[in-house]
Amino acid sequence: MKVFHSLALYQDWRRSTGTAQIGFVPTMGALHIGHESLLQRSVAVAELTVLSIYVNPTQFDNPDDLQKYPNLLEQDLVCAERAGVDAVLLPTYGEMYADGFRYAIEERELSKTLCGAHRDGHFTGVLTVVMKLLNIVQPRWAFFGEKDYQQFELIRGMVEAFFLPVEVVPCATVREASGLAFSSRNLNLDAAGKRLAPKLYALISSSASDAEVRRQLTAIGFVVDYIETRQQRRYAAARLGQGPNQVRLIDNVPVVSETPVA
Ligand code: PAF
Repeated sequence: MKVFHSLALYQDWRRSTGTAQIGFVPTMGALHIGHESLLQRSVAVAELTVLSIYVNPTQFDNPDDLQKYPNLLEQDLVCAERAGVDAVLLPTYGEMYADGFRYAIEERELSKTLCGAHRDGHFTGVLTVVMKLLNIVQPRWAFFGEKDYQQFELIRGMVEAFFLPVEVVPCATVREASGLAFSSRNLNLDAAGKRLAPKLYALISSSASDAEVRRQLTAIGFVVDYIETRQQRRYAAARLGQGPNQVRLIDNVPVVSETPVA
């Protein structure tokens, strides 16, 4: 497995692979079973699989959240090797944002709702970094988890809008036995948070109304950002814990007519 700390070295390698069809899994590290499932999908279809690990500062609206984002590089490289990854890209801020973030990709509708309404500039940061990564990596497929469904929809829309030659592949959310969606942020939950967190999925996949789900989550200690059903999907974001130790969880489930289905 090749590990590239510089874009130029990655690009040399990419050129040497010629017409090989690449599968790409962009991540911010702290890899978990959900990421592993994306890597496995890629390894199954692509000739070569590329993983990027880059904690992208432009998508964090909250400095505490960025600062405490888990960094587990050694463990991540072991996981990547085990999954059959061919190349890992570990770019630096200096290279990724040589323009000082003067140039950005902005979507003006969907990105302003749900998570975008609560995290100023978040999706501009996500779309900008994903555009950069796709241009560098030059994959045939890029794999994204459905846990971040709004992110997946925005990236798919960007790829269509800018005619990028890549197929965006959605991959099912992977859950713990409790129903809690795997997320790197789960590592920051304390004991009480771990006990409560599965309630988010349990309630959004129940038949209770959005308002009722919000009420019940608030009653047990969540600070709810939103619970919203639209276009046959119920989306949720809610926080657990206090101050800088607060952990923000997101999830979503498909809904058939008015009844959420797990
Ligand atoms: O989903 C993530 O981990 C990030 O938003 C992504 C797509 C790697 C962009 O930084």
